[in-house]
Amino acid sequence: MRDFDEQTITDAVHQSFAGTPDARLAQIMSRLVAHMHEFIRDVAPSFEEFQAAVGFLTATGQISDQRRQEFILLADVLGVSMLIDAINHRMPEGATETTVLGPFHVADAPLCANGADISAGVAGELLFVDGCVLDPQGTPLAGAQIDVWQSDAEGFYDLQRPEQGGSALRARLRSDSAGRFWFRSIVPAAYPIPDDGPVGALLHATKRHPWRPAHVHFMIAAPDFETLITHVFVAGDQYLDSDAVFGVKTSLIADFVKMPPGALPDGSVTAQPWRHLSYQFGLKPVAV
Ligand code: BEZ
Ligand code: FE
Repeated sequence: MRDFDEQTITDAVHQSFAGTPDARLAQIMSRLVAHMHEFIRDVAPSFEEFQAAVGFLTATGQISDQRRQEFILLADVLGVSMLIDAINHRMPEGATETTVLGPFHVADAPLCANGADISAGVAGELLFVDGCVLDPQGTPLAGAQIDVWQSDAEGFYDLQRPEQGGSALRARLRSDSAGRFWFRSIVPAAYPIPDDGPVGALLHATKRHPWRPAHVHFMIAAPDFETLITHVFVAGDQYLDSDAVFGVKTSLIADFVKMPPGALPDGSVTAQPWRHLSYQFGLKPVAV
């Protein structure tokens, strides 16, 4: 094994992995080497460019910790997260489309009864959300767990406001016997993804903006169904066609309807104007 040139080096590296016992790992390494060598021959980076790339990836690792995952953010802005999502979630008719999880989900959000106010006192325009959870045939799913989380009216998640001192604008609810759930919140705002690290530097160098259109996140789980990870986006948002992480699907855009003061769908009364989001979620059965 010596004297490789620009072409023969690729075969030599393939050969070096020939003894890989795990068939899937063997396939992944083979395709990685093939695509990466082709990319390098195509781009022909200088040594300085190679060093800059290593520096970029090093910085991406160094800024990452338990709470911040810059590699996933990099995958998000490169469309890799949504590509993997698309490959893994080919949804049947009647099942809600999926989108990115994002970094702001926490596993142990407060358990709330239907009708709860999940805003924890954070200021904003009142939003009443009602949803229902169905199978692809439209049969209601009772007892589904609905995890919901969202930004505030200034585009920040509670995790980004430690001075607020706790959980806000997130909850876990359960669907009732008719598959329904409902809660009060505030209208979320558009926000920039974290852009103070290497991913932000990449966006700035390429004249891309870091904004995501306003949305509410949902993760819905029920026995014998695939867990649904999705958002519902606010219709009319200025970033729907330029989401920094490519997460928007038309079927996930909904009217957050402007309503006058008066009765809410749960019978309570408000003296403020409010907004109403009503959305049906379809879950995909686990393949047997
Ligand atoms: C989010 O929607 O919370 C999100 C998704 C991807 C990157 C950053 C934030
Ligand atoms: Fe989000």
